[in-house]
Amino acid sequence: MDAVFLISAFRKNQYPPPDRPEIAFAGRSNVGKSSLMNVLVNRKSLARTSSRPGRTQSINFFSVSNRLYLVDLPGYGYAKVPIKVKKSWQHMMETYLSERSNLKSVVVILDIRRDPTEGDMQLLGWLKHYGIPAIPVLTKADKLSRQQTLTRSSLINNQIAERALIRPIVFSVKTRQGRDEIWEKIDDVIET
Ligand code: GTP
Ligand code: MG
Repeated sequence: MDAVFLISAFRKNQYPPPDRPEIAFAGRSNVGKSSLMNVLVNRKSLARTSSRPGRTQSINFFSVSNRLYLVDLPGYGYAKVPIKVKKSWQHMMETYLSERSNLKSVVVILDIRRDPTEGDMQLLGWLKHYGIPAIPVLTKADKLSRQQTLTRSSLINNQIAERALIRPIVFSVKTRQGRDEIWEKIDDVIET
């Protein structure tokens, strides 16, 4: 798979032309968005990852095989960020989600060990409101046993079912579990 980084955008006029389908990745700060994207495109560090929350602060566009854009969105919910920075992220996200005409779906990434936060629920509600399909993904599954994984995924599914049309996909960067299933869902939304 041929994936290239295009641009780190802070403003609308920096987005690449909306000439092909686009999938965005969103979730709480440090949940594993950039790591998941790297697994999807089979690259070690195309999207920058970090153990320090708040690493991705702009909207990062990648092109995959010249047929699709993947977009790494800044994480939300990190308490230590100054209010001014938070406001500018929020504005950046809202502008992007409400105005990007070629956006086909948002992969919403949740930590399988934690209950969805207010920020997660807000994002899912917002996507539903605007008719943008969400693909929920429960990541870091390598940290749980198989039984715990089943318990947690059905619990989280119950919490988000009203706001997401499809069941969450269980995923791990370490085992690559769930990778093919995420691609299947992406291919589905691109075709419709
Ligand atoms: P921001 O851009 O700061 O919002 O973070 P992010 O959501 O892009 O998270 P990132 O991909 O940088 O990952 C954060 C940390 O979680 C890193 O230390 C990753 O190695 C770790 N991580 C991500 N996914 C997994 C996973 O599936 N399993 C385990 N064990 N660790 C993971
Ligand atoms: Mg990131």
